[in-house]
Amino acid sequence: MTEKDQLIRKEFPILKNRNVIYLDNAATSQKPPCVIEAADQYYRMYNANPLRGLYALSVDATDAYENARKTVADFIGAARPEEIVFTRNASESLNLIAYSYARTFLKEGDEIICTIAEHHSNMLPWQQAAKVTGAKLTYLYCEKDGTLTPQMLEDIITERTKLVAVTQISNVFGRLNDIKGFAKVAHDHGAVLVADGAQSVPHVPVDVQDLDCDFLAFSGHKMFAPMGIGALYAKYDLLEKMPPFLYGGEMIEYVTTEGATYAEVPHKFEAGTVNVGGAVGLAEAIRFMQRFGWDLITKREEELTVYAMEKMKQYPYVHVIGSEDPKEHHGIITFKLDGVHPHDIAAIFDAHGIAVRAGHHCAQPLMKYLGTLSTTRASLAFYNNKEDIDAFVETLMQIRKEMGYAE
Ligand SMILES: Cc1ncc(COP(=O)(O)O)c(C=O)c1O
Repeated sequence: MTEKDQLIRKEFPILKNRNVIYLDNAATSQKPPCVIEAADQYYRMYNANPLRGLYALSVDATDAYENARKTVADFIGAARPEEIVFTRNASESLNLIAYSYARTFLKEGDEIICTIAEHHSNMLPWQQAAKVTGAKLTYLYCEKDGTLTPQMLEDIITERTKLVAVTQISNVFGRLNDIKGFAKVAHDHGAVLVADGAQSVPHVPVDVQDLDCDFLAFSGHKMFAPMGIGALYAKYDLLEKMPPFLYGGEMIEYVTTEGATYAEVPHKFEAGTVNVGGAVGLAEAIRFMQRFGWDLITKREEELTVYAMEKMKQYPYVHVIGSEDPKEHHGIITFKLDGVHPHDIAAIFDAHGIAVRAGHHCAQPLMKYLGTLSTTRASLAFYNNKEDIDAFVETLMQIRKEMGYAE
């Protein structure tokens, strides 16, 4: 391990505590002590129900929560903090758009387009919204290597299309999609663009104003923050015209027995007691990432992906899904190994102390399109290092032998 590797490793004690080579970062990332301590400190020093108490402790909790919102907004280049709605995760953020925006503004005869490469979280909400509103759901098919271009959207979009949903980085291919280009095509046809940022916000700089997307959903837990906190970015004027998603405490302005008026954006979308500890943890995770900086994070992840894929190429029984260019994988390497089921592959990796993911990766329609039921995925974070990759590839080359093949 280099000195830099060691410095970064110190920030992730679980890797030593459990002696694990963790290559399932697309599922969730590990948490540095500063994030754990920030949430802990919140509960030790500031905990009260925020936004409603008139006493100092509650005001402190409110400040902590609203400061976290500002940190998130700045991180993704939102025009104002009110454009950030805190949710539980990317799935909830996408459901919020489907329930509030799609079910209100779409009707029979309209069309929703989502790509075949979407995680179920950016597909099922549109299936349901289409069923309820009578809108048609159309799938935009990628190339078999995951390529998706704005031109491909241009070829199928119609004047009836009202919403287009595209992942910024696919959790299977790792490819970075041209959200700015997709947003332009969508806008030219009067549709809104929903970007799934679950795999992009943790790994590449994202500037929502530059992308000009209307919505961006992401989860804290994939970017070193606690589980249970996520965010939805939406343009302010869209949030203003959208009805609430969940109803109840804290999201109202005034209630009578007949009905209610609702709180200002974003609070009208945050019914009930909110997750202040999670929001504080997410803000600390963002500061943690900023301390290391994008140059280091993206460069390390890219170098490691190149290193891993170059080694994997030497082994004829391994087939990586997606682009042959490691630089288009953003740390996500999904593969098949001839003659071995992904569950056996993952179990053998586990026996060697290596955590990888096996299965459909919550992308069953994509798996079907690719002609498979399941694959194995190694996904990297900047705390991984060359030793991790060496152990991963060495084990990968043992698996067929452990299953009884000659090589
Ligand atoms: C591309 C993508 N979108 C959405 C999600 C859903 O994230 P969450 O489970 O945090 O809601 C994931 C999770 O793996 C993902 O990879």
